[in-house]
Amino acid sequence: MKIVIIAAIAKNGVIGKSNGEMPWHVKEEFQHFKQTTLSFPVIMGRKTFETLGKPLKGRKNIIVTGNRDFIAEFDETKICHSLGESIDYCKSKKYEKVFIIGGGQIYKQSMLIADEMILSFMKFEAEGEVKFPEIKSDIWKLVSTEDREQFEIRIFVKKDG
Ligand SMILES: NC(=O)c1ccc[n+]([C@@H]2O[C@H](COP(=O)([O-])OP(=O)(O)OC[C@H]3O[C@@H](n4cnc5c(N)ncnc54)[C@H](OP(=O)(O)O)[C@@H]3O)[C@@H](O)[C@H]2O)c1
Repeated sequence: MKIVIIAAIAKNGVIGKSNGEMPWHVKEEFQHFKQTTLSFPVIMGRKTFETLGKPLKGRKNIIVTGNRDFIAEFDETKICHSLGESIDYCKSKKYEKVFIIGGGQIYKQSMLIADEMILSFMKFEAEGEVKFPEIKSDIWKLVSTEDREQFEIRIFVKKDG
């Protein structure tokens, strides 16, 4: 099963505000996110789910929380109590690919287990406290770039060994 991180990152590394808000709304980037993730399961932290307010349609939404009392009463949601549990769940379902969709805490913990990253580098800086983790060049290899009006999509794969 391939584990893919997908994120949008401002020029200064910001991905969001600590109150959960996304600092920008770029339609073309949302469309890219939707097209890429549609039909695949998505794993997210509880804070990101609360920012969304409801599950993303057409995808199994797996929410990671330490809170055993947390409930999300939607058909498309699955609650897991650790990142490892969420990955084991996806493996048990024999999914071919799973997307890690944030936020900051979940990206940080996923850097070691992910195989690939599809990152939108926005062409502007943004205000916010939540940042994307450091992309270490000895671990990640840039394999493709694609230019869009307000962002550039860069795909990274994990180097062997
Ligand atoms: N630009 C982008 O591409 C992008 C994408 C997604 C999100 N965002 C932004 O990112 C921000 C949210 O990121 P965040 O770092 O504050 O929060 P987050 O990663 O979305 O969620 C954090 C929560 O996840 C749960 N969690 C994390 N690790 C866990 C573990 N190992 N075991 C069990 N539960 C765990 C905890 O939930 P409990 O507290 O319930 O235990 C924790 O409070 C928002 O501003 C959002 O807009 C940006």
